[in-house]
Amino acid sequence: MQPTDRVFVAGHRGMVGSAIVRRLERAGYRDLVTAARSELDLTDRAAVDRFLAEKQPKAVVLAAAKVGGILANDSYPADFIRENLQIQTNVIDAAWRHGAEKLLFLGSSCIYPREAAQPITEESLLTGPLEPTNEWYAIAKIAGIKMCQAYRRQYGFDAICAQPTNVYGPGDNYDLETSHVVAALIRKFHEAKVSGAPTVTVWGTGTPLREFIHVDDLADACVFLLENYSSEGIINIGTGQEVAIGAFAEIVSDVVGFGGEIVYDSSKPDGTPRKLVDSSRLAALGWAPDISLRDGLSQAYHWYLENVAGRS
Ligand SMILES: NC(=O)c1ccc[n+]([C@@H]2O[C@H](COP(=O)([O-])OP(=O)(O)OC[C@H]3O[C@@H](n4cnc5c(N)ncnc54)[C@H](OP(=O)(O)O)[C@@H]3O)[C@@H](O)[C@H]2O)c1
Repeated sequence: MQPTDRVFVAGHRGMVGSAIVRRLERAGYRDLVTAARSELDLTDRAAVDRFLAEKQPKAVVLAAAKVGGILANDSYPADFIRENLQIQTNVIDAAWRHGAEKLLFLGSSCIYPREAAQPITEESLLTGPLEPTNEWYAIAKIAGIKMCQAYRRQYGFDAICAQPTNVYGPGDNYDLETSHVVAALIRKFHEAKVSGAPTVTVWGTGTPLREFIHVDDLADACVFLLENYSSEGIINIGTGQEVAIGAFAEIVSDVVGFGGEIVYDSSKPDGTPRKLVDSSRLAALGWAPDISLRDGLSQAYHWYLENVAGRS
């Protein structure tokens, strides 16, 4: 793929899709195609087909999906499995049908078995049971991976699949019911600061280890893969850096400027003790992340202040 190519970024208003658009623009891509949901509902097969027949992009980035945290996944399992299967089936098939030469499908680290050995390698896919709370979403994503692999085998379609670790940054979702951990903590510490609360309670013991990637690093890795990777093998995107939830909460507290105390509620579940993807396959190709957790969180907080806190 090169900057003169027409690229369709599906999901360009989302956190990941918007970062990929920014990154492509920075790399000199000028022929970017996007469509808001009001113009193109990606669950509508006929509409997706018409759109791609008309636009005929050379490459497609599939960053549109129904995304959410544990509560949302648990409450709306039918919506999660149906919409994700529809979106990815429509986009992958129509992209290939109308002559795209490359497609990047974004998966997630939740596709891996709940008990996968850490760090999680790409080979652990389909070796054990999934985390039950988001299996609807994960099964849809796994079907998307298999569809890309099948289209590569049968039709020679250069569809590649990336599995990012937990993502955070500008454009994140701060909704109380559907947000992920980083956005939820930023919001919690900010609201505690504003209300003058003396403490912030963090669920669990603070000891579980997690990995987070800034969305601009993720977008950089996605463009790197579009330009340099062509294989059936799925590929993890992570930083390789683990942080304990407690240490992470302290950085968030600092960045937000909350002066109070962090309290751990150990009656609440910790979740898995360690979750980290093995990104050595990506590192071996020559890609490395660039944004430190503190700098990245500071950017995320500024975006929150400008786009969310100030408006509520
Ligand atoms: N966030 C993470 O931590 C994370 C981690 C790993 C992988 N990923 C993957 O990255 C991808 C993007 O995630 P994200 O965090 O950027 O999610 P997001 O912010 O919710 O963005 C998803 C985008 O998809 C669009 N979309 C959803 N359904 C649509 C439909 N029926 N028609 C048209 N557009 C539709 C949304 O449109 P609206 O703006 O209209 O809602 C939104 O712009 C997903 O595949 C996800 O699995 C995310």
